[in-house]
Amino acid sequence: MHLVDLDTPSLVLDLDRVEANIARLQAYCDAHGLALRPHIKTHKLPVLAHKQIRAGAVGIACQKLGEAEVMIAAGIQDIMLPYNIVGRAKLERLARLARLARISVSVDAEVTAAALSDVLSAEGATVEVFIELASTIERAGVTQVEEVVRLARLIADDLPSLVWRGVLMYPTNAANVGYLDAVCRALEAAGLRAPVVSGGGSPTMFKQHENPWVTEVRIGTYIFEDMTGVRGGYFNLDDCAATLLCTVVSAPTPDRIILDGGSKTFTLEGTAPYGHLVEFPQARIYAMNEEHGYVNVAECPVKPHIGDRVRVIPNHVCAAVNLHNTAYGVRGDYVEAVWPIAARGLVQ
Ligand SMILES: Cc1ncc(COP(=O)(O)O)c(C=O)c1O
Repeated sequence: MHLVDLDTPSLVLDLDRVEANIARLQAYCDAHGLALRPHIKTHKLPVLAHKQIRAGAVGIACQKLGEAEVMIAAGIQDIMLPYNIVGRAKLERLARLARLARISVSVDAEVTAAALSDVLSAEGATVEVFIELASTIERAGVTQVEEVVRLARLIADDLPSLVWRGVLMYPTNAANVGYLDAVCRALEAAGLRAPVVSGGGSPTMFKQHENPWVTEVRIGTYIFEDMTGVRGGYFNLDDCAATLLCTVVSAPTPDRIILDGGSKTFTLEGTAPYGHLVEFPQARIYAMNEEHGYVNVAECPVKPHIGDRVRVIPNHVCAAVNLHNTAYGVRGDYVEAVWPIAARGLVQ
């Protein structure tokens, strides 16, 4: 099959770029003695998780149990869930997974760790446990150094079925290294040195070696890159590997065209422009309805016509991929692979 045979909108992956992106970050991590643990939230495809591991990754991270279930069924053996697993139904699923693969999870509260320990003990399973550290994004995570040490001691000494694995933070950037440093020093002083210090965040993915504590890097978006990162200055337009192939379905005025994809194809993440038209770089996607993309083509020297097909790099590729059932892997114009996105939509 060739690109021209694909109906639209379609999620198209440039496999040469995917492989180059995997190789680049892996080479960086290898050069600095850092473990790489790709976050599969970006692609949700077992075949790409396997590619990342074959390239040298130590395992994967995924945010949801449903994603982990898909990856384990596909043969992935080392999975980190950097997430608080709360509630009996989820803890029982986690215990089942822990019998099938090496699993680690994060906690940021004693009550979460204790419930984890209770259910796993009852189920006869063990998991490795990280403490999530708070960061400047003010999401989950322990905010006090002393509390990290107390929780680490509980995990290491008092809670059965939990194995102390270390700390994780997102993002590990300049604004957060002070807290990470204080935590790691305090843990060391308490005889609880973190075996793994897992850091992450695309904007500083090639700076992780500057933090002496970080031993492992979790990055997701690097495999495809996207316009958020291009505009942020940490990804390159020419490395963006995932595009939404769309058709121009209307050209109601000389300055406006309409694409057959809108927020249900791209998401409305970020601010306008909602993506970048590869073939018409001066075009600007200024609005979206669910199935319509509004594009201003006033600045385009040659205007797109009804029936033209365009490739669009989305603003936030992870969220866009999650909207699609199928990914088409291409080399040049040849469609080499048709992959069901096995872990898409698995929010539980
Ligand atoms: C816990 C965690 N780890 C790592 C990442 C790295 O992802 P990205 O490549 O998008 O920076 C994320 C991103 O959301 C995350 O939430």
